[in-house]
Amino acid sequence: MASKRMAELPGTTDRRIDALLTLLAENSTIVVSGAKIAKEIGVTRQQVWRWIEKLRALGVRVKGHPRAGYHIERMPDILAPQMLSRRLYGTTFARRIYHFFKTDSTNAVAMRLGEAGEPQGAVVVAEEQTAGRGRAGRTWISEKSAGIYCSVLLRPGIPPSFAPLLTLAAGIAARDAAAEELDVLPDIRWPNDVLVDGRKFCGILTEMRAEPDRVHYAVVGIGVNVNQSKMPDELRETATSLRIETGKIHSRLELLIRLLRHMDRYYNQLLVEGAPPILRRFAEVSSYYKGKRVRITTARETFTGTTAGLEPSGVLRVARDDGSVEMVVSGDVAEVR
Ligand code: BTN
Repeated sequence: MASKRMAELPGTTDRRIDALLTLLAENSTIVVSGAKIAKEIGVTRQQVWRWIEKLRALGVRVKGHPRAGYHIERMPDILAPQMLSRRLYGTTFARRIYHFFKTDSTNAVAMRLGEAGEPQGAVVVAEEQTAGRGRAGRTWISEKSAGIYCSVLLRPGIPPSFAPLLTLAAGIAARDAAAEELDVLPDIRWPNDVLVDGRKFCGILTEMRAEPDRVHYAVVGIGVNVNQSKMPDELRETATSLRIETGKIHSRLELLIRLLRHMDRYYNQLLVEGAPPILRRFAEVSSYYKGKRVRITTARETFTGTTAGLEPSGVLRVARDDGSVEMVVSGDVAEVR
């Protein structure tokens, strides 16, 4: 069966820029001839320098060697779709990757794709967001090329009441991917905050269109603070980045590949085996699963209690101090020390 053509979205990165970047990056130790570049990216030999200039304008340092060709001076950490696609081969997320140097919100783009009938597995990724969306109407600060701003489109065919499992799966995937970069183990604060030493470096925003009994499509948006050197003053107490925690620059490309590979595994487990593997993994890696003193703020009220595990749908159980057990479908959770 023929696969559906990718949507033509205004503002996506030119296919030739992507191909040029991949070609130079994959041959970073050698000089690549103009003729080879022309052939591989599908332009004339006379046009090659123009495309090299476009790449330079994006901050990529390319050195020209008279009559010999070009080579990349330093590997840029750009989330180039062709490179991502190759490294995600065999996963749900390899085939339809939409890349933007700048967009409003990858979730907004992915929601539009979902509405237009885009198949599941589409990935929208941006180097910068001008209107990054966080939970509860908050803004997700999305500094250029410092973090990962990525949304995946899923069509899981589950009832909307089970959608929190998608958020949990993404949180666990991000946690597992980041664990390999850190000296200490990251924690997950239900439902979606990934923390290191109590400070958040990753958040997940799941949006969807659903009928009462079935999710039509869901967009899981993942934001990871990777190479920010400092946080804005108002967030300094509560937020951090992998760089702040480790003092090192991290490859966003490698981290995103690992994250999407883990996400692919958890998502497919969810489709095949249902909730149990996700719930078990959450119990293993989150200190918020059971026995944590918390303050819960919902649209209706604020109360304190102790976490008491998850429902099969991913909803958090919290035992109030009077012994009654509350089901928290959505809300903010804060640790009470
Ligand atoms: C949160 O508030 O914790 C959720 C933050 C989610 C941010 C990500 S960045 C990629 C995607 N696009 C958005 O506009 N938001 C999500």
